Amino acid sequence: TPEKAPPIKGDILVHASADKEGQPIRVSELSEQGVSAWPMGKDKDGNNVIRKGEPNNQLSVFRFDRDRFKVPEDGDHAHVVLELDGITAEGIVVYSGICTHAGCPVPNDPNDATKLFCGCHSGQYDLLQGCKVIGGPPPRSMPQVPVELKGEQLVLKDTFVTAPFGFLNEADWETYL
Ligand code: FES
Repeated sequence: TPEKAPPIKGDILVHASADKEGQPIRVSELSEQGVSAWPMGKDKDGNNVIRKGEPNNQLSVFRFDRDRFKVPEDGDHAHVVLELDGITAEGIVVYSGICTHAGCPVPNDPNDATKLFCGCHSGQYDLLQGCKVIGGPPPRSMPQVPVELKGEQLVLKDTFVTAPFGFLNEADWETYL
């Protein structure tokens, strides 16, 4: 069903928080602190559909100075696919909001907003290096969703660039797509 479909190219990003759910996310609302988002697309009749029927579609949207992002150089590439093209000129980047270890939602590290810290088992990710794992048990980096700004709206350029939590391996993900 469209509610459970993965994010799709052309979807827009809308708020996931209860007080603003379904409202398009604006650039002015973004900072280093992640904003929780759902992808929203259309059903076959052209009606808006928030894709929240699949919990792993929960996304987090961040904004940093664009020149702070860097491709990792330390051999962790197997698990990092950093799409610099998918980061807007304004420095907006979108990652899965769900830990790749056991599926907990992951907020910013309270001590360093450039990192994520998963409270379930102390997993850590670096937001400026493709959300690669820098501590704890997560097996791989957070999947990124490439995004662009069109007018006032944040529009997806693609789905997750690697399989999100819940899809056991890349082959399963390819089949699903
Ligand atoms: Fe995040 Fe285990 S679920 S570290």
